[in-house]
Amino acid sequence: MSAVIPKPNSLAAQLRRRLLRKPEHYRLTPSGPGPILDVGCGNAKYPGAVGLDISADTQADVVADLNEYPYPFEDGAFSQILCQDVIEHVREPLRFIAELHRVAAPGARIHLRTPHFSSVLAYGDVTHEHIFSALAIRTFEKSLFSHYLAVGLRVVDLRLDFWDPLRWIGVAALANRFQGPYESLFAFRFPAMNIRAELEVLK
Ligand SMILES: C[S@@+](CC[C@H](N)C(=O)[O-])C[C@H]1O[C@@H](n2cnc3c(N)ncnc32)[C@H](O)[C@@H]1O
Repeated sequence: MSAVIPKPNSLAAQLRRRLLRKPEHYRLTPSGPGPILDVGCGNAKYPGAVGLDISADTQADVVADLNEYPYPFEDGAFSQILCQDVIEHVREPLRFIAELHRVAAPGARIHLRTPHFSSVLAYGDVTHEHIFSALAIRTFEKSLFSHYLAVGLRVVDLRLDFWDPLRWIGVAALANRFQGPYESLFAFRFPAMNIRAELEVLK
């Protein structure tokens, strides 16, 4: 059976565009001053940031593979690190986080955005290596085992973004108020879009 693909200007296509436009409303931005690193910047590098990407066919200033360590930056070089829709692409997310911690200054902020495990976005790109829950992101602050991740991080903010209809009917507010029960019991009935987190670097 072939898939039903809406015609470009059909009502279904317009509705789909309206719903899928929303990730643009939730882009990451720095929360303070200082040098900015945008890892996996693609063609949407944050203005003024140093962009790193594996592909030279992007806005990258530095072409490097995030699966190769160490990254080509000094310890403590950045005050703000943006990591939008990238952590799901790296092979070892905890090693990636530890390396971002190394290149971050004391008190720096690491901003992450990644598709939620209930989101269609998590499954729409076959280059994704991992999918995440809010709970998984919280383990960056308090690791399940000390040998998993042993760097100092504090979760400043951790929220779930939703497609508009679920925001309108209050699901977003409830899911963010009760993230644990939402993820355990309701996520696949009322899917989220992305997880967004801000982490403070403790050194
Ligand atoms: C989904 S795109 C996000 C781009 C941009 N951050 C944005 O929000 O529009 C993922 C980006 O990560 C880059 N990327 C994926 N794997 C990488 C790796 N191992 N090393 C460096 N960059 C990588 C890709 O080239 C791509 O530009």
